[in-house]
Amino acid sequence: MLDKVKDLIGDVQSFKSTSKEEIEAFRIKYLGSKGLLKELFNEFKTVDASLKKDLGQALNNLRNAASNKVQELNDSLENQIESKSIYGDLTRPAEPIELGSRHPISIVRNRIIEVFSKIGFTVSEGPEIEDDWHNFTALNLPEYHPARDMQDTFFIEQNPDILLRTHTSSVQVRYMEENEPPIRTISPGRVFRNEDISARAHCIFHQVEGLYIDTDVSFADLKQTLLYFTKEMFGKSKIRLRPSYFPFTEPSAEVDIYWGLETEIDHKITKGTGWLEIMGCGMVDPNVLKNANIDSEKYTGYAFGMGIERIAMLLYQIPDIRMFYENDVRFLEQFKSVL
Ligand code: DAH
Repeated sequence: MLDKVKDLIGDVQSFKSTSKEEIEAFRIKYLGSKGLLKELFNEFKTVDASLKKDLGQALNNLRNAASNKVQELNDSLENQIESKSIYGDLTRPAEPIELGSRHPISIVRNRIIEVFSKIGFTVSEGPEIEDDWHNFTALNLPEYHPARDMQDTFFIEQNPDILLRTHTSSVQVRYMEENEPPIRTISPGRVFRNEDISARAHCIFHQVEGLYIDTDVSFADLKQTLLYFTKEMFGKSKIRLRPSYFPFTEPSAEVDIYWGLETEIDHKITKGTGWLEIMGCGMVDPNVLKNANIDSEKYTGYAFGMGIERIAMLLYQIPDIRMFYENDVRFLEQFKSVL
């Protein structure tokens, strides 16, 4: 009988289960009111007194082993249920972490900053809500000047006028008011125009303004800087400057780059000419320097302004400006590989 009890202890110790039903069946088998232990203790009463000491000990061991086992298995079962409900299944494979991507406008803005910072331009910013002085008057657009109609304005308050800036040229004025020449700065930012939204135009878009003021700055310096920029940005080294008009520069020009006519898309975007307009520029009008308290006898400078959306559309061949603002992940995901 002693051997039998010892075998049973071995069975109990090696028993394993994660099923509630199996553990309960195990408990009933050993510890139940009609269980094995009950049976064995009954048998124990009939054995010879000389065997009782060892057998009694073995039976106690068996009972303890069985009840410890039941306790242990039930505990681990409970832990499992608990951790499942808090953490889910801890054994399942981890979910892959989705990498985000920068918005194409940020990518292009950062690239423009990088290109100009290599030649000593700092980055400056100004407010999106502007007063009339910084957006118009100081830039040589006095009240009732027809050129104000070139940019349809969102007004916030009238008399005195507070408005959403229509261009980043307003930052030029602020920067000149606060800094002495030499000045070399670019000002990226959001601008607002009361325009109908279409594939080519939006009422909110982004610009980068450039300003360079020093003694003896000439139109040749401007042209050279623009050439450097177009080479770095687009890998194109042919530009042309067409005479134009902006109230804040004199002379003023529009900058075209030679894009080429190799593909069907080239034909389409350049309207068959091979040339693409990318920005406005000119020599800062002496009136603007004076308005910002800079000595226009001593200093000259150039300025330029470009639309970030336009450049991004050219670089990535994006056909519709509205795609930038819809935040469709299928569009945004395509810029994952670009830094
Ligand atoms: N402010 C002009 C616009 O929004 C762009 C521009 C043209 C800026 C010529 C300049 C410049 O600084 O010199 O259309």
